[in-house]
Amino acid sequence: MKNPHQLLKDFQTRFGSAATIYRAPGRVNLIGEHTDYNDGFVMPAAIEFYCWVAAAPRDDRNLVIHSDNFDETVEARLDALATAGKNHWANYPLGVADALQSSGKRLRGMNVLVSGDVPLGAGLSSSASIEVAAGFAMLRLSGVEFTREELAQLCQRAENEFVGARVGIMDQFVSCLGQAGHALLLDCRSLDYELYKLPMGIQLVICNTKVKHAIASGEYNRRRAECEEGVRALRMVLPEVRALRDVSISQLERHCALLDPKVYSRCRHVVTENDRTQKAARALCNNDLRTLGRLMRESHRSLRDDYEVSCKELDEMVEIASAQRGVIGARMTGGGFGGCTINLVETGAVESFRKNIAAEYQTRTGLRPDTYVSPASDGVQQVEVGSDRVSS
Ligand code: GLA
Repeated sequence: MKNPHQLLKDFQTRFGSAATIYRAPGRVNLIGEHTDYNDGFVMPAAIEFYCWVAAAPRDDRNLVIHSDNFDETVEARLDALATAGKNHWANYPLGVADALQSSGKRLRGMNVLVSGDVPLGAGLSSSASIEVAAGFAMLRLSGVEFTREELAQLCQRAENEFVGARVGIMDQFVSCLGQAGHALLLDCRSLDYELYKLPMGIQLVICNTKVKHAIASGEYNRRRAECEEGVRALRMVLPEVRALRDVSISQLERHCALLDPKVYSRCRHVVTENDRTQKAARALCNNDLRTLGRLMRESHRSLRDDYEVSCKELDEMVEIASAQRGVIGARMTGGGFGGCTINLVETGAVESFRKNIAAEYQTRTGLRPDTYVSPASDGVQQVEVGSDRVSS
């Protein structure tokens, strides 16, 4: 974990002034994958990996942002924001500044030092964490009123419009509104949400396949387009349908002849995943871990076979995990094509789980995985250095 004292010192050395520190978490998704942009349900939790931001206002209208991770500084004028080039890290904070200003928020110029410990390209939402941390800092230091829901939506807009990835709202939302010890069931249409306490005696264990996922690679946007194609075809007979969220499994089956077979499979994943996610929330509420585990397994299969966003390494990782003692459920998490799996593991079995996974995965793939154990954490916060307290 980043030492906030060190961050303040680094800020002082680089920019010659004191700063305020904020941090926004990455996330892991328990279930509800590729449903958010279909107006559906997701159930992520924020994790104890953060993007840390030290920031202080400037007297002019410039944004000067230094990334520790990339050891690079970018300078931009708030009145003439433009992208920093394709796939550039600075597009995330610059995009957020742009989205905030386009929505009428008046920002001050600012020096910003960014230091993230969310693994990059691992499907744990390092992008959302930098967007939310930077956005929160910009609004707070500019003295602008805002709600966390609004910040999440503006960060999503930044990623859609400025960065060019048509992501849904899940990552930004949980990075803003996550709560320690809880998973968050979000209705991505209404943005209503409920928090579910994670069971005692169970750990969230995240296994990184070390295969980098690249969300901008086009496959993500293609899946989204296929879902939209499904909605267009179904609307010919079901005009009330606005998104796949509105389609039941029996309706989809009844009208499958209207859909190209690939599009049908994509729709089947989304429709069944929405159902699984709501059932998983009920299972969590009833402490019915057996059902929760079964739903996670079914989710993985559906992502692998119908949505085709898994990969050999994710499948191996899930297979190895599912055979271990004390494992409640295992599945890929996030956008897919590499990245991580999420495993619910009984506390007493975590050490043997990590050891066995590392050995077996390496034998099968030649890759050395990372495993992380993280409690569910709180959403974006200001960090009071001195006491290292956090406050919202
Ligand atoms: C990425 C996106 C999210 C969501 C997931 C898949 O993490 O940022 O909006 O679509 O993929 O569930």
